[in-house]
Amino acid sequence: MLVPLHEILEEAKQKGYAVGSFNLHCMEMLPSFIEAAEETKSPISIQISDGTAKYIGLDLIVAMVRTLAEKASVKVALHLDHNSDVAFIKQAIEAGFTSVMIDGADLPIEENIAVTKEVVEFARKYNVSVEAEVGAIGGTEDGVSVEGEVDFTDPEEAAYFYKQTQVDSLAISIGSSHGQYRSKSTLNFEVLESVNKMIDAPLVLHGGTGVSYDDIQNLIKYGIAKINIGTELNVRYIEEGKKTFTESKLDNSLRKVLIPCNNRIKEIVKEKIEKFSKVTSQQ
Ligand code: 13P
Repeated sequence: MLVPLHEILEEAKQKGYAVGSFNLHCMEMLPSFIEAAEETKSPISIQISDGTAKYIGLDLIVAMVRTLAEKASVKVALHLDHNSDVAFIKQAIEAGFTSVMIDGADLPIEENIAVTKEVVEFARKYNVSVEAEVGAIGGTEDGVSVEGEVDFTDPEEAAYFYKQTQVDSLAISIGSSHGQYRSKSTLNFEVLESVNKMIDAPLVLHGGTGVSYDDIQNLIKYGIAKINIGTELNVRYIEEGKKTFTESKLDNSLRKVLIPCNNRIKEIVKEKIEKFSKVTSQQ
């Protein structure tokens, strides 16, 4: 069933696991996400970048996700990932998204608060969850680089922001970065621990592709209840597709080259969900 993200995250925080939030890069991937969630009997968050939202269209995304989520035996949230365009965020809420992220992290704190409050006020009327960000998470997303230094979240500032906005979840910057698939991030657990002491809301880790499985249990211990994975899905889809397209005859059904890519995505999503839910010391 399709539910607001906060419903899933609060349960995850209480029970001590993190929900995987997976970026949908194209329509083909969607059934793999839902099947992976069903097979692991776990809730899932499906997140939509601005690029994907514009590529597929808000209404079509909602229709597809709703159709599959209504048949599923697990909870599914449909989340608009990083967006700073308040008018577009409102459109996504009206279209049927169950969660949105207002990203005002590069604004001065009072402006970030003001824009976040506007989105929270609107979203509450629809029972839609709101995620915001304090501290800049660097890297490259959807081919767009975030300029400048990575700026760790200041715990005092995060606490002040949360008090003012009452968002449902907060993304923080502790050293992970978007688009990192060749190496692993070094995380600042001191910052995370301080933020967690000051804020009740579930915390969100972006740049999940570059996070080692060894770090996952500490992330959960200190309040991370949602881990975003985007790049790894894109990279592995292309990796698999390079093989199948190269080997295919031109008049083979296109399905034959896409099904192995979709299957690969399903295995990755299942693995992530399992790693986010139990103690492991494996890479
Ligand atoms: P990666 O692409 O690095 O996995 O990060 C995804 C993300 O944080 C989307 O908001």
